[in-house]
Amino acid sequence: MASPLPAVHDTPDPDFADLLARRPHLKAHALDGLVMDDVPLVNIAREVGTPTWVYSAATLRRRHAALRDALIEAGLKATIHFAAKANDSLAVLRLLGAEGAGADVVSEGELRAARAAGIPADRIVFSGVGKSHREIALALEEGIFQINAESAEEVERISEVAVSMGATAPVSLRINPDVDARTHAKISTGLAENKFGIAYSDAAALYARMASLPGIRPIGLAVHIGSQITEGMAGYRAAYSRVAELAQALMARGLPVERLDCGGGLGIPYRDEAPPTPAALAGAIKATLGPLGLPVMLEPGRWIAGPAGVLLASVVLQKRGQNRRFVVLDAAMNDLVRPAMYEAWHGILPVAPDALHAPLSPADVVGPVCETGDTFTRGRALPDLPPGALVAFLDAGAYGATMSSTYNARPLAAEVLVDGARWAVTRPRQTHEALLANQLVPDWLGTTA
Ligand code: LLP
Repeated sequence: MASPLPAVHDTPDPDFADLLARRPHLKAHALDGLVMDDVPLVNIAREVGTPTWVYSAATLRRRHAALRDALIEAGLKATIHFAAKANDSLAVLRLLGAEGAGADVVSEGELRAARAAGIPADRIVFSGVGKSHREIALALEEGIFQINAESAEEVERISEVAVSMGATAPVSLRINPDVDARTHAKISTGLAENKFGIAYSDAAALYARMASLPGIRPIGLAVHIGSQITEGMAGYRAAYSRVAELAQALMARGLPVERLDCGGGLGIPYRDEAPPTPAALAGAIKATLGPLGLPVMLEPGRWIAGPAGVLLASVVLQKRGQNRRFVVLDAAMNDLVRPAMYEAWHGILPVAPDALHAPLSPADVVGPVCETGDTFTRGRALPDLPPGALVAFLDAGAYGATMSSTYNARPLAAEVLVDGARWAVTRPRQTHEALLANQLVPDWLGTTA
């Protein structure tokens, strides 16, 4: 059986200075310690407690703008639809919406969140492999920009729902291009063996069928090959070339193709990865889809939000193991599940000013949950971290809070947005009362003897 513990790397970990140099929103101040934009993280921990997710508004804006500018510079007519699954905080969605972003949603909950955050329905695309009747109806009621259908069965369902409502659904077909994105198996989506999209060989016939069905307006094609793509552009290029070829064939048959959805997936450097840049992605889109002259869409999640967030945690105690040092935090796998789920590496910085320059020794950083998998990292070079010391997990702004659970009856952590020198709690820590409040015990169980 595979080890439940995080992988040990054969290259040296980046040191604190390297980690800070690549993250302009984080600085080490001589007096305040680790600061996000103009807010010392210790102030947030003092007022809100830990564990707490903290997001940098400036970073979210800067990264959204960098992607948009790269697309514009490549001469593309493109729209950005932020993948809400990466971060569905209403404050984050509101901020990105105000920057002009739309949203990519995959559930009724995400659709409601995007709308509640003020993102207009005509900037929202609904993706996902299993949309219910109810979700399709809600999307149509709202006047959704686009539904990405992932199967012949779903196309029929969308038609039925639309007809029953007297509506017309704008539908794109998500193609499974059968290309290898060369990312972690759990987040690879573009292989034929994956559950996503429509087999390339079936797509043309299904598109033609869509054009003949009542209640459906065929809009175009969509593709998304995976997430945390760091190993070059080959996968993207192969996928987009297949989309281009198919779009051309459809148009040659007189079928309408209005726009192409290029998905998300652009990776970020958590450790020492050197992912393709937005300019490289825009260049690949231009080279493959550009000749068609159609508007394109992008569905980035991680690239925009990942680097913008940290998870602040406190040390509960340091435990001397047989020949290991365990730093036990008040954050656990229920908060940040990525290391347990994908062997993900996250930078960990101490927050106190002196701790950033103190002598280092290897430590296993773990949470209090009763599973060996609740190990964030092994053998990481860290200073002495006494009880109460604060640490920040880096690049936790995407797939952090959204993937957390209440396992071990641990309330959901608080969320905070930093904007320059001001900051606000955007989701208070869940209370223990709230954790129990939503449960019912049937009368017939009686009382405890
Ligand atoms: N579009 C579709 C259809 C998707 O399925 C996804 C992500 C995205 C866009 C956004 O991908 P991004 O730009 O964020 O890579 N929980 C995993 C990642 C799962 C990604 C799922 N789909 C993780 O923590 O690494």
